[in-house]
Amino acid sequence: MRLSGKVAVVTGGAQGMGRAIALRFAQEGASVLIADLGLEAAQQTASEIAASGGRAVGMVADVRDQEQVRAMIDAAVAQYGGLDILVNNAGVGRILPFLETTEKDWDFMFDVNCKGLLWCSQAAARVMIEQGRGGKIINLASQAGRRGEALALAYCASKACVISVTQSTALALAPHKINVNALAPGIVDTPFWIEVDKQFAKLLDLPVGEPKRRFTAEIPLGRIEQPEDVAGVAAFLASSDADYITQQCYNVDGGNWPS
Ligand SMILES: NC(=O)c1ccc[n+]([C@@H]2O[C@H](COP(=O)([O-])OP(=O)(O)OC[C@H]3O[C@@H](n4cnc5c(N)ncnc54)[C@H](O)[C@@H]3O)[C@@H](O)[C@H]2O)c1
Repeated sequence: MRLSGKVAVVTGGAQGMGRAIALRFAQEGASVLIADLGLEAAQQTASEIAASGGRAVGMVADVRDQEQVRAMIDAAVAQYGGLDILVNNAGVGRILPFLETTEKDWDFMFDVNCKGLLWCSQAAARVMIEQGRGGKIINLASQAGRRGEALALAYCASKACVISVTQSTALALAPHKINVNALAPGIVDTPFWIEVDKQFAKLLDLPVGEPKRRFTAEIPLGRIEQPEDVAGVAAFLASSDADYITQQCYNVDGGNWPS
């Protein structure tokens, strides 16, 4: 139990990778606050954790709203007596041609993926600094943040921003022994990719499911990534085994991208 006695907040924890990370953290002994846009979905993950003997609570928090973000961090402290780990997992993506990418699309992705991540990190860091016992912040970047993609300009840019914000935040918080790192997953089998597949299929005039099949066929390790593949690395970065690691972004993508 690597996270025994720790308190974690996971944004976007109702489904996909956030859910897997919340479940894994609870298995490792952490108490977990799961925040998401919908209360029922967040509570569902918390109930699964409770049913297997873990400690978790679900609540609504839109990471774009600074007041809701403060309330989320306050709730974790009120419920579990402190805060040790923040996972900035909430994220959104849209597949769009270059010429059809609008201000609204750009703002939507940057508001959630970048601004929301910053508000959550600031709110969590204030508590961690005050506590004086260090902490861990883990940001969900993407292989999309390592490169450009013709049909994912704004999403790629927002995830490159996550990598940059991770580096700056790590340097700002290093004096407080707060480690800040990012994960760059590849093609992960979550509800997110069901939507991405549909959007690619429409733009490329392919049957639904075919884009996912083609992209997956190119993964060196030969299978689609599961949310649990990411959760294990997140648990490592949240643990004391990673106390000397900060400012890094780890590719967890089956070998899709080399650096
Ligand atoms: N699925 C992939 O292939 C993949 C690959 C690389 C990176 N990522 C990133 O990993 C993270 C998780 O992805 P996923 O595949 O599990 O996504 P998902 O869409 O399955 O789940 C994302 C969760 O975030 C929540 N969310 C969205 N906007 C929010 C907001 N404003 N405030 C709070 N919660 C919000 C959603 O309600 C949802 O529960 C995202 O940041 C995503 O960009 C995904």
